Amino acid sequence: MDSASSVNGSKNMVKLKVRMEYNITKILAEEIKDSRGNPTIKVTVWVGDYSGSFSVPSGASTGAHEAHVIENKKAILNVNEVIAKALIGQDVLNQKEIDRIMIELDGTSNKDNLGGNSMIGVSIACVKAAAKVSGVETYEYLRTLRLSSGQAQEEIKPSRRAPFLFMNLLEGGKHTSNTLAFQEYLIVPNTENISEAVEIGIKIQNSLKEIIGKELGENSLTLGDEGGFALKITDIRKPFLFLVEAVKKNNLQDKVQFSIDAASSSFFANPARNAFSIADAGGGMYKIDGKEISKEELMGVYNSLIKEFNLFSIEDPFDEEDFDSFRKLKDANKNLFIVGDDLTVSNQTLLKKAIEKGSINAMIIKPNQIGTLSETLETMKLARENDIELIVSHRGEETNDDFIADLAFAFNCFGMKAGSPLKPERMVKYKRLEDIISKKLAPPWRGEN
Ligand code: PGA
Ligand code: ZN
Repeated sequence: MDSASSVNGSKNMVKLKVRMEYNITKILAEEIKDSRGNPTIKVTVWVGDYSGSFSVPSGASTGAHEAHVIENKKAILNVNEVIAKALIGQDVLNQKEIDRIMIELDGTSNKDNLGGNSMIGVSIACVKAAAKVSGVETYEYLRTLRLSSGQAQEEIKPSRRAPFLFMNLLEGGKHTSNTLAFQEYLIVPNTENISEAVEIGIKIQNSLKEIIGKELGENSLTLGDEGGFALKITDIRKPFLFLVEAVKKNNLQDKVQFSIDAASSSFFANPARNAFSIADAGGGMYKIDGKEISKEELMGVYNSLIKEFNLFSIEDPFDEEDFDSFRKLKDANKNLFIVGDDLTVSNQTLLKKAIEKGSINAMIIKPNQIGTLSETLETMKLARENDIELIVSHRGEETNDDFIADLAFAFNCFGMKAGSPLKPERMVKYKRLEDIISKKLAPPWRGEN
């Protein structure tokens, strides 16, 4: 904006006023509690009377290469005193510039100085404020953002009219205090109708409650972080048996597929990382069902589960450094989605490595893993150019924010993963998706099928 040249003449004065409204006028971070009662930040960005807020989630089983998370009090100071100074007066419609300024200000490859939590809070709050001043829904605004080569809508290849819902109904790993190695047992309803998919999730979880209560006792009905039942068992096969029974009970065999997020770095003992005592000091071992097994043995475990339960996808089947084992599992199972989460942490450099190695055909997108929205979109673009499917995901420790639904819908992503529909901070995300679609806010489908 050129204010000096705009002060003369009423026409220019009007122009000045209109442009002024798009400049960021205030940024404020405050402390809120997340779904586990831990402190996190909510960032609000104002453009005059308009505002947008984002409440930042965090991971419980984070990948080693995720953007650095800064302690809450320091993150608030970073937003209110450092980032605000640099961004007030900037055009809220220029997301690329907003994110570039923050990246430059931080000056590290991993957001060590400002913190990924501070930066993503500001980055997404800006997008929401920009949508408000533009008078459009957030997902609509997202489509208009410019990437390095062109408009996001054209650059991120669509996959599905409405995303598959990945709903975590049984939990282990770091999201519980139990000893079940795999972190998530998910159902994926095979429908484009979001209301029907949510309905299916609720039905299956209610049946699971009955089945598990009867077999393991009412005491075993405690919930994990994401609202799935946290079973006090070690047998990795058993949760599938509960799921099969619950699906049968509802006569939904044709409508429900099964997936897991093994989050296997959390039960991998790498000699270098010294995670726990290991039998094989050479190659690292996985601890499952009280035993320590090699990656070859783990491959065998997956192959038999894939066959027995007709698995739809496996997320992070091997340690986050083991790109080759991901590829071997993928190549041996043509119809299976091998999903990178800790492997790729929404990071373009790691995604490039996964593409070169042929490790994955799907990946998790979590904006706070990388720290700005612009970088998130660039990663999404690169993935789709290489026919890698996108699953936009919540985190283990969530807030009531529903932004991921807009992100998943805006780019016709393959999936959205948001936990159990019985937990309010997860349900708001499914609800937002339902609202977008049922209110016919959706623009015409851009894909082929
Ligand atoms: P996290 O878990 O948010 O605790 O990392 C979710 C996942 O691994 O998908
Ligand atoms: Zn994961």
